[in-house]
Order: sequence, then C-alpha cells, then structure tokens
Amino acid sequence: MNNVTFIGLGVMGFPMAGHLQRAGYHVTVYNRTISKATAWVKHYGGVMSSELAQSVAQADVICMCVGKDEDVIATLQGGVLEGAKQGTIIVDHTTTSEECAKQACLLAAERGLFFIDAPVSGGQAGAENGQLSIMCGADEAIFALALPILSVYGKLVKRIGVVYDFKLIS
Ligand SMILES: NC(=O)c1ccc[n+]([C@@H]2O[C@H](COP(=O)([O-])OP(=O)(O)OC[C@H]3O[C@@H](n4cnc5c(N)ncnc54)[C@H](OP(=O)(O)O)[C@@H]3O)[C@@H](O)[C@H]2O)c1
Repeated sequence: MNNVTFIGLGVMGFPMAGHLQRAGYHVTVYNRTISKATAWVKHYGGVMSSELAQSVAQADVICMCVGKDEDVIATLQGGVLEGAKQGTIIVDHTTTSEECAKQACLLAAERGLFFIDAPVSGGQAGAENGQLSIMCGADEAIFALALPILSVYGKLVKRIGVVYDFKLIS
C-alpha cells in the first residue's frame, strides 16, 4: 500500500497529497492543469504524470479530490478505470451525491477495483494542517487497508457504512 496516486491538486488536494509525500509514501500526482502538478513536485518532490491512465498504473491506492459529481465520473472514465491494476482502491474525497458514489462504486467493481466514498470536512486549514474529518462509505476490510493513508491527513476518519451492499444485489 505504498504507491499512492493523488488526482486533483486544488485547494484541498494540493496539501493533502503533500502530507502523503512527507509521510514517506511514493506519491504520483495528476492534475488536469499541468502547471499545478509541476508546482506540487517543485514544492514536495515526488512524481507527476500528465496522462491520467499512466498516472494510476502503479498505484495501490488512488485518491481523488476533484470538483463535483460529473468531474468524478469524467475522471474515472477518462483514464482511471482503464489504467488502474485490479485490486486497486479508489478513495474519492470529492463532495458528491449518493447517486454519484453508487455509480462510481459500480464502475470500479466492474473493473475489479474497490471504491471508498470519503468526503472531507475541515476546509483549507484542515487540509493544510492534516486535521480533516473524513466520513467513509466502504466495505470494512477495504476501509481498514486504506485507513493508514487517510489518517495521514485526517484527525477523525470514520467508516459510516457501505456505498453498495453487493451481497444484497447478487
Ligand atoms: N475548499 C474547501 O474548503 C472544501 C472543504 C470541504 C470539501 N471540499 C470539497 O473538496 C473538493 C475539492 O475542492 P477544492 O476546494 O480543492 O476545489 P478546487 O480548488 O476548485 O480544485 C478542484 C480540483 O479538481 C480538478 N478538477 C475539477 N474538475 C475536473 C475534471 N473534470 N477533470 C479533472 N480534474 C478536475 C481541478 O483541476 P484543474 O486545476 O485543472 O481545474 C482541481 O485540481 C470539492 O468536491 C469540494 O466540495 C472543499
């Protein structure tokens, strides 16, 4: 669980990814506007990729913090689902609707990937100080695997339930 790709280096994602790099994870960053990824690497070190699918190819965990519902789906379908290896955990920190989380979870499952819906609160200061609250929807075992990573920038990281109960569907 050492290779982490972080997608979306905005107000929140830029410092969140930085905490991971400083904590010793092997971080690769991707940002749609490449200059922000360049600035991140200059600030923290680490690696950037300007191609979405390539950015996630080595990842054990993919964290994303983009804008809204449509940006999450566009990011997943724009290279993340295609590029990630089977068994990779996608952690979405974007604030999205329940429908979006469910769609993202199903899209991930179809590709043999795991999904954690993980919106954050605490604002810019919480991201910069590594003091975010993170409310997670995920399978218990997958949550446990991602918890050390989320705890790097979360002071309160809690699993609330699952996004989808696949046992009920099958
Ligand atoms: N800011 C806060 O205080 C705060 C607090 C709690 C939760 N949140 C939530 O956290 C998320 C991120 O917020 P933020 O303040 O960091 O936003 P932001 O500064 O506007 O950054 C958004 C990031 O997402 C990327 N992005 C947006 N749409 C994309 C798309 N379609 N494809 C690829 N990349 C895309 C942007 O890339 P570009 O650089 O190319 O535009 C940018 O890196 C939002 O869901 C927000 O509601 C924010």
